[in-house]
Amino acid sequence: MSTFPIYRPRRLRRTENLRRMVRETRVSADDFIYPLFVVHGQGVKTEIPSMPGNYHWSIDMLPTEVEEIATLGIPAVILFGLPAVKDEVGSENYDEHGIVQQAIRAIKEAVPELVVVTDVCMCEYTSHGHCGIVRDGYVQNDETLEYLAKVALSHAATGADIVAPSGMIDGQVWAIREALDENGYENIAILSYAAKYASSFYGPFRDAAQSPPQFGDRCSYQMDPPNAREALREVGLDIEEGADIVMVKPALPYLDIIRQVRDAFDYPLAAYNVSGEFSMVKAAAQRGWIDEQRVALEMLTAIKRAGADMILTYFAKDAVRWLATGQGQGVP
Ligand code: PBG
Repeated sequence: MSTFPIYRPRRLRRTENLRRMVRETRVSADDFIYPLFVVHGQGVKTEIPSMPGNYHWSIDMLPTEVEEIATLGIPAVILFGLPAVKDEVGSENYDEHGIVQQAIRAIKEAVPELVVVTDVCMCEYTSHGHCGIVRDGYVQNDETLEYLAKVALSHAATGADIVAPSGMIDGQVWAIREALDENGYENIAILSYAAKYASSFYGPFRDAAQSPPQFGDRCSYQMDPPNAREALREVGLDIEEGADIVMVKPALPYLDIIRQVRDAFDYPLAAYNVSGEFSMVKAAAQRGWIDEQRVALEMLTAIKRAGADMILTYFAKDAVRWLATGQGQGVP
């Protein structure tokens, strides 16, 4: 290796065009999956207070929004639904007229080519706010599987392209793959929230989805943040169970996990730049403490550099616009 003064790393940092030539990571619209929160009612476009620039959408308002998303070149959305009524088993979750089912139909009618991913989980739909069937204060594993399979099947039957189980229930990918295949939906893909941590970064989302657990926490199913090797086991299991895409969530505090999964598995890898990661940037930017645009693009670039192929992010629409203005990655 040639060292100073023979080798001067600054030579290739001298101008923007030189930097562009040696830039190793780029983010673009292709990388993004944009989350949408859908609600009952008419004419609803209500901003979520803890997530500026994100809204609760009623079905009639969706076509304009998804047309804009598609025009920006974003290939996919992921849907989260707020049901009319919550109960012990989250019935609306697998109702053919449920809020997410209505949203899938509306989106597919407006923009058929937009990829529709659905979050398959129970917490938004259950009265207790947990991601499964609760008995004796414990989220039952195998009993929950039947419900998750029903939900995924209902989403697939309505036109979803990808179902994304997020409850960290053991065997959920297997249960869903089996149900889909038995019913002729072998072409519907599974994006598994494979390594999802019991993170405090979901705070603003729980406001948005009105899904906080009504007692206890999610530590008996979501992963313990200090664990890394366990994430590799979780991802390995989900791939064996039939996951097409695996995900690490959250993204920023878990870039090491993204990198380790990228190196260990040759599968498409998603990362979820979660609500807390988003809202921290918004809040600091509102106070003038950081530059939202530059910080957000730097974060998204870092997630990609760590090894993610796709990023679920509330910044998606703005990021595409910023990138289009010539703001490159990491360019101040
Ligand atoms: C549902 C779910 C959650 C998120 C995505 N799907 C919340 C949770 O696990 O409590 C969080 C997304 C975000 O914070 O942006 N299980």
